[in-house]
Amino acid sequence: MNVKYTISPKYEKKYKNFVLNIQDYFNNAEKTIHKARNEIKIISFNEKQFVVKSFKKPSFIKSIYYTKNHSKAKRSYEYSIKLNDFTPEAIAYIEFYENNKLSNSFYISEYFEYDYTIKEPLRQIGFENKTKVLNEFAIFSSKLHDNGILHLDYSAGNILIKEKEDKYIFKIVDVNRMIFKTLSLNEKLKNFDMLWANNENMTIIATQYAKSNNLDIEMVVKKALWYSFRLKLFKNFKKLLKGKIKNIDW
Ligand SMILES: Nc1ncnc2c1ncn2[C@@H]1O[C@H](COP(=O)(O)OP(=O)(O)OP(=O)(O)O)[C@@H](O)[C@H]1O
Ligand SMILES: [Mg+2]
Repeated sequence: MNVKYTISPKYEKKYKNFVLNIQDYFNNAEKTIHKARNEIKIISFNEKQFVVKSFKKPSFIKSIYYTKNHSKAKRSYEYSIKLNDFTPEAIAYIEFYENNKLSNSFYISEYFEYDYTIKEPLRQIGFENKTKVLNEFAIFSSKLHDNGILHLDYSAGNILIKEKEDKYIFKIVDVNRMIFKTLSLNEKLKNFDMLWANNENMTIIATQYAKSNNLDIEMVVKKALWYSFRLKLFKNFKKLLKGKIKNIDW
């Protein structure tokens, strides 16, 4: 079995053993926080808590693709380095190859002790300080966009929030699909569509976004609402075609 890995230079010495033996640590750890396509566990090592994301073993065809292209684990690591403070600190990635084809791969980051994701203020009725959180979120998103960062999976579960005194700290996760470039206003506003926000919440976010960028509020709100509506229409139409009428959600 072949192994390729990179550990953040800062942690090279301290965590090399942990990274090289991540398969054992992962299998022995109990604390799964998420299991869908990929599995995520919180693992403690030397009194520090890590989040380890184990990427699903690719199919035969995809394993050939990933042998030539960067794996999701590697991209998560490299993008996280670029994202710096916008994401929990990157520790390492490691890829295991069998017969020269990608088998298991892992991305390791620091555990960010967040209080909730943006899902709660967006979905919970009567969430305390909702407007304040959404305004701060708009300012955070504006900073991301100004830095030329487009998160291609900017959905509510990927935006973590920690309350600190009177402020909020935001971090984005699930960062293997990103674009780094100067963004147009349309690209920036379309970026909010995966939040699946209702019109009231999207209006709060877009209004603050316009104010932070000295843009016409009415124009920005209209565009953001349109992109959000368009994605919902498209996704709901797909559900309808699949006969999942019960799951239709606006
Ligand atoms: N560094 C971190 N610190 C704390 N919690 C994290 C961290 N990374 C991920 N999480 C938690 O795990 C959840 C899922 O993580 P992530 O979005 O990376 O995986 P995913 O949605 O399963 O990915 P995919 O869509 O690729 O299957 C997040 O919503 C968050 O609750
Ligand atoms: Mg996610």
